[in-house]
Order: sequence, then C-alpha cells, then structure tokens
Amino acid sequence: MENCENVFVMDHPLIQHKLTYLRDKETGSKDFRQLVSEIAMLECYEATRDLPLKEVETQTPVAVAKTKVIAGRKLAFVPILRAGLGMVDGVLSMVPAAKVGHIGLYRDPKTLAPVEYYSKLPSDIEEREVIVLDPMLATGGSGIDAVTIIKRSHPKCIKFMCIIAAPEGIKAFTAAHPDVKLYCASVDDHLNEHGYIVPGLGDAGDRIFGTL
Ligand code: URA
Repeated sequence: MENCENVFVMDHPLIQHKLTYLRDKETGSKDFRQLVSEIAMLECYEATRDLPLKEVETQTPVAVAKTKVIAGRKLAFVPILRAGLGMVDGVLSMVPAAKVGHIGLYRDPKTLAPVEYYSKLPSDIEEREVIVLDPMLATGGSGIDAVTIIKRSHPKCIKFMCIIAAPEGIKAFTAAHPDVKLYCASVDDHLNEHGYIVPGLGDAGDRIFGTL
C-alpha cells in the first residue's frame, strides 16, 4: 500500500486485478456490482488495519492461549447516495456488526451550498469510527460535504474510502479535511470537462444500478 501523508493507495494485486475488469466498458451491471463489492471488501481489510487490539485469554481444547480481539472500537459505514450503496455489502462482509448510516446530497445550483436531501446516522455515532463510502472521488465536493455533515455528530474518527480518485478531488478533500484518512485503489490522471474521472470507469452509479 503506497502511503502519502493521509492518502493510502491500495496497490494489492487482487484489488488492481479486479479494478481492471471494473474499468472495462464491456463489464455489465451484474459483474460490475460484484466487483465493486469485492474491491470494497478488500479495501476495508486495509482501512481497518489500525484498529486497536487487546489481549484476552481463550481456553482452546489443548491449553489457555493468549489471543487478541478488537478493543471495543465500533464501526459505522456511511455510503453517499447513490453509488456508495454498491460498496455496503462488501464492507459488511468484513465487519458484520457495523451499523450503516446514509447521506444523500446535492448542490443548490444557484448558491452551490450542499443540500442534504437524506441523512440518517446511527444514534450512537459518538461511540463509533465512521468509514464514508463513495466509489468515485471526482471534484471531492460531495465527499467534503458528507464529512462536514458527519463531523457535526462527533464520531470518534472518520475515514473516507473510494475506489478511484482524481488528483483534483484528493487535493480538495485533503485541504478541507486534513484529519481524515483517505483510502483508494487508484489515483487516475485528471477530471474532464464533464466532471468525469479520466480514464476512470464512467458513471459508477449508473453502472451499479443498470441505469445507463
Ligand atoms: N462520478 C462517477 O460516477 N464517475 C466519474 O467519473 C466522476 C464522478
């Protein structure tokens, strides 16, 4: 995993292999969904690497073993609607006890202020580490706004997990939230004039939900 300050690019061969098929324009929705879920699962494995552990004693059939369990840190995943939903199954397969909040946002076309059209976060979010999910970090706008909204509920810690990030999005996100670790599988070349990541994979939401 390459690491640049708070940005972690997960170059694990399994992730990179799956990302190749995810980018392919011939990959249909069924396989696309499956790949998003599998990549999210593998990314989650890396993004939770710093969870604190504590020692416990376990009686095996043979002897008492000194072993480790996660030290009380509870997780919540928060997908940004709608494409973030595609990552939820994968991360829950890694952390089945996590809670799941949802955030839906758009920008007011006149004021450009973020408008929350849906937001439901776990009531005990103050006790949880939150991992925000959105497959594409393009301009960074919705990711920045979602994290700003979640910060108002004072979770223990926030991380942001995407699959592909544009350099423009990383710059904006890390400037707005220098305290939030950002995990992705690839940093692509640039954003085009339509706001798509190049080479990217197209519209992740449309490809997940078959609404092309
Ligand atoms: N959102 C997407 O789904 N794709 C992009 O390339 C940029 C934003």
